[in-house]
Amino acid sequence: MRKVTVPLGARTYPVLVGEGLLTTLGRRCRALGSSTRCAVLADETVAARYGDLALKSLRDAGFAPVLIPFAAGEKSKSLRVVERCYAELARHRLERRSLIVALGGGVTGDLAGFVAATYLRGLPFVQVPTTLLAQVDSSVGGKVGVNLAAGKNLVGAFLQPKLVLCDLSTLQTLPEREFRAGLAEVIKYGIIHDPALFRRLERDWDRVAARDPRVLESVVARCCRIKAHVVSEDETESGLRAILNFGHTIGHGIEAITRYGEYLHGEAISIGQVAAAMLSERRLGLAPSVSERIRQLFLRAGLPVSIRLSAGQRVRLLAAMRLDKKVSGGEVKFVLASALGKVTWGHAIPESEVHAVLDALAGGTRRSP
Ligand SMILES: NC(=O)c1ccc[n+]([C@@H]2O[C@H](COP(=O)([O-])OP(=O)(O)OC[C@H]3O[C@@H](n4cnc5c(N)ncnc54)[C@H](O)[C@@H]3O)[C@@H](O)[C@H]2O)c1
Ligand SMILES: [Zn+2]
Repeated sequence: MRKVTVPLGARTYPVLVGEGLLTTLGRRCRALGSSTRCAVLADETVAARYGDLALKSLRDAGFAPVLIPFAAGEKSKSLRVVERCYAELARHRLERRSLIVALGGGVTGDLAGFVAATYLRGLPFVQVPTTLLAQVDSSVGGKVGVNLAAGKNLVGAFLQPKLVLCDLSTLQTLPEREFRAGLAEVIKYGIIHDPALFRRLERDWDRVAARDPRVLESVVARCCRIKAHVVSEDETESGLRAILNFGHTIGHGIEAITRYGEYLHGEAISIGQVAAAMLSERRLGLAPSVSERIRQLFLRAGLPVSIRLSAGQRVRLLAAMRLDKKVSGGEVKFVLASALGKVTWGHAIPESEVHAVLDALAGGTRRSP
């Protein structure tokens, strides 16, 4: 098992990464000193697979847990489901010192975290992420929230968990497509911060893709360490945290114009990161050979690296990028890389250059952007 600390003063917490950690959930929660009543929020898929294990571990440690299941999928990240959860918490008489456990992917973490941040003005919160994306990204950092009809993640809060438990064994049951989508964030950490991680992924790719727990343990822990570092430098997203959005400017735009139906997040940001690498060649002199290595790694991950958009879709993509809530003052800003591990943020790019890159992306095979 590996332990990563997220250093945030009084809100410091550990991220534990290892096999079979779910069975230790109860005693680790016990050590947090919360009251015995607690709630486990999980979507129905995860509840069916791992709910019993989580509840047993909590009961064995003296808790009286209640499981609150909801339908799997992004649609559950809604105020409607939040309200249903509040009702269940009230029915089971949870109080200020009761623990909320998020057992599942990023949807569950964001939803349960928002419930924990707001019910009775805040309850202690534990994350047990069961997707690769949630283990390396959404469970660490304290951003929680839900979607509105008007857009994704428009309502939210910052709530750091007391503990994050990444049980690598749970990844074995993750659908292949979800696992690969999570790899897009893993590759991102190599690009934005850690050339050694990037090389390791190139070298050990087959073992990563085969979900070898030993390789995953060090890779997941490495990603959590990078996220912990970035978050501790910039907890509320006013500066450095922007680098986590490498590839996300175009990626979010692609998700928006395809109505969050065609691409998983990891797939959209795979295209977005290939685009950002191309823009980096043009603007920051990123070596074309490095840009090509980036593209190759996404290809090996079985992730999309090209997209063909109609003229109308392009107009909508650019409009969606301008509407992204991370845009301020109406200007679309990009995170770009000058080398592996060296990125800077706040690059305003003329639309003509975005068009040039979209032309190159439409090809599928590599063309000079
Ligand atoms: N808070 C943040 O900082 C942050 C960062 C990135 C993403 N997010 C959010 O995360 C969400 C996406 O998360 P996700 O990709 O984990 O999606 P998800 O939570 O919907 O999980 C994906 C699917 O995998 C299933 N699943 C989960 N664990 C499983 C397992 N171990 N075995 C089998 N099936 C399993 C789920 O039931 C679901 O159908 C988005 O809503 C996004 O906005 C938040
Ligand atoms: Zn992302």
